Amino acid sequence: MKINTRIPLPDRVANYHRVTGFPESIFVAGDGRIVGTWIMGNDYRVKSAYYGGYPAGYLRRIKALFPDKQRVLHLFSGRVDKSVMPGDTVDVNPELAPDYVDDAQTLERVPLEQYDLVMADPPYSIEDCERYQTTMVKRNKVMAALGARLTPGCHVVWLDQVLPMYRKDQFCLEAVIGMVKSTNHRFRVVTVFKRHN
Ligand SMILES: C[S@@+](CC[C@H](N)C(=O)[O-])C[C@H]1O[C@@H](n2cnc3c(N)ncnc32)[C@H](O)[C@@H]1O
Repeated sequence: MKINTRIPLPDRVANYHRVTGFPESIFVAGDGRIVGTWIMGNDYRVKSAYYGGYPAGYLRRIKALFPDKQRVLHLFSGRVDKSVMPGDTVDVNPELAPDYVDDAQTLERVPLEQYDLVMADPPYSIEDCERYQTTMVKRNKVMAALGARLTPGCHVVWLDQVLPMYRKDQFCLEAVIGMVKSTNHRFRVVTVFKRHN
């Protein structure tokens, strides 16, 4: 697959504010990256009630930043709401009935070349893994598996409490957006990588 669309970052930000109607909270910084903060406000519940699921409104925000994307892969998919953002799903847990039961650290069964956007939401800690009955993911291995086979121009939107280690000759960092949910919830960061051309 060839990815043709190249929306400049200022246009992505403008589309985000136009579509969501939220007050300006993300900007293109002097170094050319998108930075800012999302305060999820009252929109923090998880519709599926799945532990660690995306807060309501998260996918809508990402969609507004990436209106050009045609083929989405939900990595660590859990019970992601595909009615908001359609796409294929990958999870290691077969009980969740993902499109691909696979380990994100290898992704041998997944045709990565076909996607132009990867949404990644790994477990953040060993305590989280206990809830999912999985072992802790090595983030650098996931990034290596993605970097080896994603098509140039593909974006990876990674929600986490840690910046995953990545190869600078494979990915550039295009956005860093802090995410605040409600009181007593952990802060998270949305990191957006682009596979180099
Ligand atoms: C934070 S949850 C994702 C929740 C999802 N964003 C949602 O909205 O429902 C993390 C998911 O990663 C899965 N997981 C854990 N280790 C994995 C691995 N090595 N490969 C693929 N999936 C894994 C868990 O089964 C769990 O469903």
